[in-house]
Amino acid sequence: MSNVNLNSTPQSGSFAAQLDLRYPIVQGPMNGASPIELVTQVCNAGGLGSFAAALLSPAAIIEAVKKIRTLTTRPFNVNLLILETRQPAEAEIALAEKLLLPFRDALGLGLATRPQKFSENFEEQLAALLEAAPPVVSFTFGILSADTVAQFHAKGSKVIGTATTVAEAVAWEQVGADFVCLQGSEAGGHRATFLGDIEQSSVGLMTLIPQAAAAVKVPLIAAGGIMDGRGIAAALLLGAQAAQLGTAFLACPESGIAPAWRAQLAVARDDSTRLTRSFSGRHARGITNTYTEQMAPHESALPVYPVQNALTGEIRQTAAKLNRPEFMSLWAGQGVAMARPMPAAELIATLAAELKVPHAINY
Ligand SMILES: Cc1cc2nc3c(=O)[nH]c(=O)nc-3n(C[C@H](O)[C@H](O)[C@H](O)COP(=O)(O)O)c2cc1C
Repeated sequence: MSNVNLNSTPQSGSFAAQLDLRYPIVQGPMNGASPIELVTQVCNAGGLGSFAAALLSPAAIIEAVKKIRTLTTRPFNVNLLILETRQPAEAEIALAEKLLLPFRDALGLGLATRPQKFSENFEEQLAALLEAAPPVVSFTFGILSADTVAQFHAKGSKVIGTATTVAEAVAWEQVGADFVCLQGSEAGGHRATFLGDIEQSSVGLMTLIPQAAAAVKVPLIAAGGIMDGRGIAAALLLGAQAAQLGTAFLACPESGIAPAWRAQLAVARDDSTRLTRSFSGRHARGITNTYTEQMAPHESALPVYPVQNALTGEIRQTAAKLNRPEFMSLWAGQGVAMARPMPAAELIATLAAELKVPHAINY
């Protein structure tokens, strides 16, 4: 345990020291669940808050970064999903629309109208992020070119790339990322996988951290199933320099999630979640419900992200409004039963206190 730093201030050159953080704790970016208030509360409490910007227009990204700067003077992170523009096949869309009809009927929705666009344009979002130049930027679903990483560095932004395997961590290091976020298979939300097969790339965090630590020099951030100070200590012991928590922060009032989602978090168990691509066209971990069960046999035929995500948008939003969790995407990680509902600043203080307790190892 000689290089594990649990009881002192951040060591020089470490993730926390480079970003001037009090604690090696990152609130993970969460589309639809990491509003500015959550992000800035985390930053002001000594962690790194992350704002998920993928659903925003370029202009809205610039506005959001301006707003965050008025609410915190601490470093913060802004996250995008790396998306390729791909024209979906008409037959794939028609099949998805047919499969979604029973769920629309159950919610009293009429026939679907095709969305005008399936997502924001990634290249335009990237340009906006470069212009806004937040202290930290993070990416998932793909990889940037070394040129783009260098452009962020020229603007003073540190770059975090997300990896689900050792090969992906190495790839991010090679394009110049400052830090790599390792996403274990326990994690809630979408898989970041961009190189390998999705099942083979579902590596548990306990095996992913030490193998990645042996393969890359950049500081590692561990994500997936970490819910308390013990979990953070374990990640640091295995070779990470920080922990990123998503599900733990979902339970904070500042996450702003729908009451039906919050209620499901409160009763979920260790075996309540599964990976599904039925909501979005990309594998993601969430609490199982009627929708995931009924769509499971058709999963592989559905269009890829962001097409399926756009096609299910109205169903997910209407279900949330009508308090019908059986049709909602209830993203959560395998540690969900350990979530503790409390304000974000209190959660950071609690995690920090737990991390500082000496971790005796008895056997
Ligand atoms: C609701 C939800 C939305 C998420 N959205 C994003 C996202 O937009 N970008 C991203 O990089 N990660 C996203 N994630 C992953 C989290 O940032 C984090 O890495 C993950 O939740 C860690 O695993 P845990 O949930 O077990 O703590 C999301 C996770 C959840 C639960």
